[in-house]
Amino acid sequence: MKQKASLILGIESSCDDTAAAILRYTKGENGSQTEILSSIVLNQNNLHQHFRGVVPEIAARAHSERLDSCTKSALQKASIMIDEIDLISVTSGPGLIGGLLSGIMFAKGLAQGLNKPLLGINHLAAHCLSVRMVHSITFPYLTLLASGGHCQFLIVENIDVFTRLGSTIDDSPGECYDKIAAFLGLGYPGGPHIEKRALNGNENRFSFPKPMLNKKNCNMSFSGLKTAVKRQADDIILKQGGLYPSDIDDICASFQKSTVEVFKNKSEYAMEIFKEKYGFVRGNFAIVGGVAANKKIRNSLEKTALKNGFDFFPVPQEFCTDNAAMIAYLGSQKFISGNYKTEDLIPKPRWPIDLKAKPLLGFGKRGIKA
Ligand code: KG4
Ligand code: ZN
Repeated sequence: MKQKASLILGIESSCDDTAAAILRYTKGENGSQTEILSSIVLNQNNLHQHFRGVVPEIAARAHSERLDSCTKSALQKASIMIDEIDLISVTSGPGLIGGLLSGIMFAKGLAQGLNKPLLGINHLAAHCLSVRMVHSITFPYLTLLASGGHCQFLIVENIDVFTRLGSTIDDSPGECYDKIAAFLGLGYPGGPHIEKRALNGNENRFSFPKPMLNKKNCNMSFSGLKTAVKRQADDIILKQGGLYPSDIDDICASFQKSTVEVFKNKSEYAMEIFKEKYGFVRGNFAIVGGVAANKKIRNSLEKTALKNGFDFFPVPQEFCTDNAAMIAYLGSQKFISGNYKTEDLIPKPRWPIDLKAKPLLGFGKRGIKA
């Protein structure tokens, strides 16, 4: 069943950002065009900052209180009336169950009231496809998805098929940025704070580990790096009674250097596998997810890509971190392809995108993590 969707409302509430966006998708004779008419993101930083991490119950309540006004703002900014919407698309996993439920319930009410189709979208798949919302990148492409909950190298074969080449075996890099920022007394989320402090720091002052660098595969580990950074900070505090601003700058810069090195090295393995699989002379490499907003990481991976015969496609920073435009975009693509199911609307805290890949991250009673 091939269908046309033109105005799409996207809704995102899987973690601590309440987001709504309006997209116009036009399919004409000369190909298709995606316009992001509005993208509103209401972060909850002030609610969670005090706890140095996301408190799921507080997040869920805040989502249900704000989804309505967030959607109204998105409609207003796009100059669209609610009944002009052709399709609603909502994140249904993976994420915090309370937030997913808030978003899905809100979207269901809206879809039923307006008598419009509603699609449940995988948040990780939306990050991976977000690059196509802004760049014309052809399938298959290699992507590094680095966010607050995940870190994976994937081949995006098409909008439905993903092949995982490697993944973190423990923490995500975003978690690492957030936890290091928390014990250094910087704000939440940690990524932008660490990136800023690192600009003034000496990246060679501390030699932090680069976990799994010698393993010839695309798997990564960040928890040992996080612990090493914490130990170093504790050592300095013990010796001199606290951290000078320059110590914090140097720790941030040295930590970031290790992260950049891990990404660079593992991206090269991923590129080798990609080239072996497809025999491409030139490939496409995209970086997506919150951590991909980091300029140092973007610049380093751009060089790595070009050196290894890949064209580089960074997602604009505002669409690296969580947003609803990517949810609307993937919704539009799935709707047109006709490949979606009502079960997709069931909230799923865990929902890996490559089900064939061996689980590397726990396998508890709630299922495979990623
Ligand atoms: O993709 P995202 O918004 O949410 C998840 O799906 O997890 O990613 C959020 C993560 C946070 O851990 C945040 O600290 C990190 O992305 N982040 C950054 C930067 N901006 C956000 N990490 C490093 N450098 C940044 N500039
Ligand atoms: Zn995300």
